[in-house]
Amino acid sequence: MDLILMGLPGAGKGTQAVTISEEYQIPHISTGDMFRAAIKDETELGKQAKSYTDAGELVPDEVTIGIVRERLAQDDCAEGFLLDGFPRTIAQAQALEEILSDLNRSIDFVINIDVSKEKLIERLAGRRVSPTSGQTYHVEYNPPKVDGVCDVDGSTLIQREDDKPEKVKKRLEVNIEQTQPLVDFYSEKGYLRNIDGNQTIEQVQDDIVRLLEGLRA
Ligand code: AP5
Repeated sequence: MDLILMGLPGAGKGTQAVTISEEYQIPHISTGDMFRAAIKDETELGKQAKSYTDAGELVPDEVTIGIVRERLAQDDCAEGFLLDGFPRTIAQAQALEEILSDLNRSIDFVINIDVSKEKLIERLAGRRVSPTSGQTYHVEYNPPKVDGVCDVDGSTLIQREDDKPEKVKKRLEVNIEQTQPLVDFYSEKGYLRNIDGNQTIEQVQDDIVRLLEGLRA
C-alpha cells in the first residue's frame, strides 16, 4: 500500500502512523521526524531546516522534495510506504506524482485526519516527546507510565520547540492555508478518505483500520 497521512499539526498523524506501519508492515516516513533527526545530528540538512521548523514555517519545497525522493527509492519502500506530513504544498504533491511515476507506481489512498482547531491547540500544548526514542505522549490523553519519563528508554520527556504556545499559532496558520488546496487536489483525483480525528486515539485507530481493510478487500 502506498499511503499518505494528512492532517493539521496535532491531528494525530504520528500517533496513528506507528500502528498503521506495524499493522501493514510498511515504513513510516515522516518529513518532520527526518528534519528533527537531521537537526539533532547537526547535518547540512539540519542546518538548512532548523530556522524554518523552529519558526513553524515550511521548509522550502526543493529541500523537502529532495529528501523524500531519496527515501522512497530505498529498498524498504518496495512493498509500500506511509507518508506522514508530506506533501504539504501543491508543488510537493506534483513532485510526488513524478517521483512515483519514475518508480512505476502511484498513490493508493490519502487519509485525512480531520480535527477541530480547539482540540489541535490542546493536543499540541500537552504533547511531550522523548528526545532519544522519539516516542510521543500527551500529559492527559496518552500519558507515560511514570510522569515525565519515556516508557521506551527512560529518558526525560521534553516539549518540542515548535509546540511552545507562541509557535503553535503560526504553525496552524501556515498549515491551514496550505491544506485546503491539497484536500481539493486529492479529492478531485478520488484518493481522499476523511477520518474524524476528534475521537479518542483508539476510536481513530479503529476507523483507519476499518477503512484500510475495506479498501484492501
Ligand atoms: P511535523 O513533525 O510533520 O509536524 P506537524 O504536521 O506539525 O505534525 P505534528 O507532529 O505536530 O502532529 P501529529 O499530527 O503527528 O500529531 P501527534 O500524533 O504527535 O513537522 C514539523 C515541522 O517540519 C513543520 O512545521 C515544518 O517546518 C517541517 N516540515 C515537515 N514536513 C514538511 C513538508 N512536507 N514541507 C515543508 N516543511 C515540512 O499528536 C499530537 C498530540 O495529541 C500528542 O500528544 C498525542 O499523544 C495526542 N493525540 C493524538 N491523537 C489523539 C486523540 N485522538 N485524542 C487525544 N489526543 C491525541
